[in-house]
Amino acid sequence: MGIPTVKRKVRSYLTETLHSLIDKLSPEEKLDCVMVVFIGETDLDYVNGVVASLEKEFSAEISSGLVEVIAPPASYYPDLTNLKETFGDSKERVRWRTKQNLDYCFLMMYAQKKGGYYIQLEDDIVVKQNYFSTIKNFALQLSSEDWMILEFSQLGFIGKMFQSPDITLIVEFIFMFYKEKPIDWLLDHILWVKVCNPEKDAKHCDRQKSNLRIRFRPSLFQHVGLHSSLAGKIQKLTDKDFLKPLLHKIHVNPPAEVSTTLKVYQGHALEKAYMGEDFFWAVTPVAGDYILLKFDKPVNIESLRKNSVELKKTCEMFCVALVGLNERYLFHSGNPEHPGDILVNTTIEVLPFKSEDLVLSKETKEKRLEDGYFRIGKFENGIAEGTVDPSLNPIAAVRLLVIQNSSVWAILNEVHIKKIPN
Ligand SMILES: *[C@@H]1O[C@H](CO)[C@@H](O)[C@H](O)[C@H]1NC(C)=O
Ligand SMILES: *[C@@H]1O[C@H](CO)[C@@H](O)[C@H](O)[C@H]1NC(C)=O
Repeated sequence: MGIPTVKRKVRSYLTETLHSLIDKLSPEEKLDCVMVVFIGETDLDYVNGVVASLEKEFSAEISSGLVEVIAPPASYYPDLTNLKETFGDSKERVRWRTKQNLDYCFLMMYAQKKGGYYIQLEDDIVVKQNYFSTIKNFALQLSSEDWMILEFSQLGFIGKMFQSPDITLIVEFIFMFYKEKPIDWLLDHILWVKVCNPEKDAKHCDRQKSNLRIRFRPSLFQHVGLHSSLAGKIQKLTDKDFLKPLLHKIHVNPPAEVSTTLKVYQGHALEKAYMGEDFFWAVTPVAGDYILLKFDKPVNIESLRKNSVELKKTCEMFCVALVGLNERYLFHSGNPEHPGDILVNTTIEVLPFKSEDLVLSKETKEKRLEDGYFRIGKFENGIAEGTVDPSLNPIAAVRLLVIQNSSVWAILNEVHIKKIPN
């Protein structure tokens, strides 16, 4: 965890921040992470003062190696007095954001070798209970090629997590453009360079980028001293998601183009539900309406049902946390505020990537529809979950088809397509 701190006009929250971070760790977790405090100042008296007060307050944590404190040499910073004003930012703000880019790079380079993941924090935050295990479990369930940034807060650069090997690229990129733009913009540009195709449109680009940038909700970090300080601009920001109860569940699904014939209500779009950002809400479905998930690349959906009892037993001994073994695909409709808005008379259908040479059991063959899809399940009591016959893999698309007019609106608040990791 990287915690940059600079001299503040009003008051420092660094001690409270560290207490919040440390006190919410279990003894095992304390052995599993390092907190690096980066003092972004070159005034040695100031730096030594901060170090002394941290040594007093956190002597045990510093000697155990849980907390490290670093500061850059004065020679690290170039002349920051003559910067070009860009994007309507004042001279002072350009200086601030340029120095911030350099500070973050120094901290990231130092921290890169300390662990498998790096998470960027700030010096004026409070954290949620169990934040560490939440972050770790969330990261471990993803395969490394599936993401570049995990966001555990929606504020600025707080709670952004990277995989350590990616830090090389990130730092090199920021060093190239550190005078041009603030760090969150640069980060977005990195994603652009990596996945956007200039010959395709902005929507395509946004979707490609959002595949690599996964937002976890609810937020785990929040600023402290929300109204108490006039000095720092960031203190004005609060993360609305920190306290809000979540009305949908988040999963990371394989990249897909999603579409529907259903009429969306108030911007609760299907794309957002699929990305785990919101629930999907539509007005009364009629027979023939569908929701279609067309995967960018054919997906091998996990299919462990037959062995699941056995696997569960093995798992009790060997796996850390493998929950819901039968939830290879899961669609959950309705939400706590509108429990009646569920999908009824709706089937789950999958389209195998290969249309020929499929070796299928009689039972699976009978599920085949005229258009090549296989009807493998349906919603019951608002939920559809199950597994896919492995001989149908890889799957090109999943379709939810409404087969009879509904009398209620429909909410889809959880979508999970669990693929076999590569
Ligand atoms: C439609 O759903 C209702 C409620 O679940 C059920 O009673 C009815 O039998 C279903 N109709 C069909 C054709 O499946
Ligand atoms: C289903 O709804 C559509 C559109 O409202 C209507 O045209 C159709 O007659 C309805 N079908 C049944 C079986 O009620």
